[in-house]
Amino acid sequence: MVDALCRQASRLNIHTRYLHGSIVAYAERLLATVDAPLSRTLFCCTGTEANELALRIARTATGGTGIIVTDYSYHGNSQALAEVTTGLPVSEPFAAHARAITLPDPYHRAPGMSAEDHVAAHVDQFRQMLASFHDNGVKPAALLFDTIFSTEGLIDVPVDYVRQIVDLTREAGALVIADEVQPGFGRMGDHFWGYKRYGIIPDIVTLGKPMGNGHPVSAVITRPDLADPFGEQSLYFNTFAGNPVSAEVAAAVLDVIEQEGLIDRAAVTGNHLKDGLRHLAGRHAAIGDVRGRGLFTAIELVADRESKAPHPAAGAIVNAMRDEGVLMSRTGPANNVLKIRPPLAFGIDEAEVLLTALDAVLTRMGHRNV
Ligand SMILES: Cc1ncc(COP(=O)(O)O)c(C=O)c1O
Repeated sequence: MVDALCRQASRLNIHTRYLHGSIVAYAERLLATVDAPLSRTLFCCTGTEANELALRIARTATGGTGIIVTDYSYHGNSQALAEVTTGLPVSEPFAAHARAITLPDPYHRAPGMSAEDHVAAHVDQFRQMLASFHDNGVKPAALLFDTIFSTEGLIDVPVDYVRQIVDLTREAGALVIADEVQPGFGRMGDHFWGYKRYGIIPDIVTLGKPMGNGHPVSAVITRPDLADPFGEQSLYFNTFAGNPVSAEVAAAVLDVIEQEGLIDRAAVTGNHLKDGLRHLAGRHAAIGDVRGRGLFTAIELVADRESKAPHPAAGAIVNAMRDEGVLMSRTGPANNVLKIRPPLAFGIDEAEVLLTALDAVLTRMGHRNV
């Protein structure tokens, strides 16, 4: 990737007003990874820009303004996205044209409630939310969701729920935007894109973070019937987006994913890690739940397994892990879900380092053993 960057940077870099072979070649490779009829891509530099552009396309296509997000989500740092953010502190009030839906969370399902009833109750809430748009004279434009529900706490949202709310969104005349900024490019270990798990084809997909492996490049992928009318009405120009250097870097990322079999590797390493964490849960009562897909793993830390109340020392555990040389973060409404998203080069040996360090930290911090 670094070679590709240096090679192209020493040859030529231009903005995208001029078409360049590297950009076209990369666009074609990228589009080969998604499902028909997704066949147009627009390049940006950050996930925020990609989501902003996706909202503009959705609003242009639907004539609506309403945005549905999931509660405790994050999609970017612009004003339009801050106004729909409940996952991080923001100074902007939550927008009157937006709604934040509560997700079904199997780990916190009420005792005695069946999985089916749990999903049905949340689908019902979704219907009521759509009705509230109608009652307030707001036409919905888009449902925007992260397909791994990362900031929300990596909730294991039932597939059936996602399918149903996608259908309801479309019935209401709005579009479905899959935010793949965190789950995309194979991290899930089963598919290239997180949306695949739900058997849906979004109207718009937004990409970022792993696309350039640290280099700032992002994209929107959508259908021609959405992209083309938008392009006729709006001249989308972005000085740095998808320039030839970024395109060569992003192409090198695809090369590495393919050549090193990183998707399979994410599955194998992720399963090893989760098995190890479940084993640790047998010794440390603070580990309430272990979940995730591929190399995106979450550990919900609880004060006690009965009440599932948030563990108060999650932040201290993250810092103690940093002192052991293992970087992780925390997320979720109560900030008690450890979020483990290593680089895809992470292998079994590194997973073992993590497991040993976590075992030592939990033991040292004196968390009640099971
Ligand atoms: C799901 C999701 N979408 C969008 C963004 C915004 O991306 P960026 O920071 O590149 O603007 C983030 C960043 O953390 C994210 O997690």
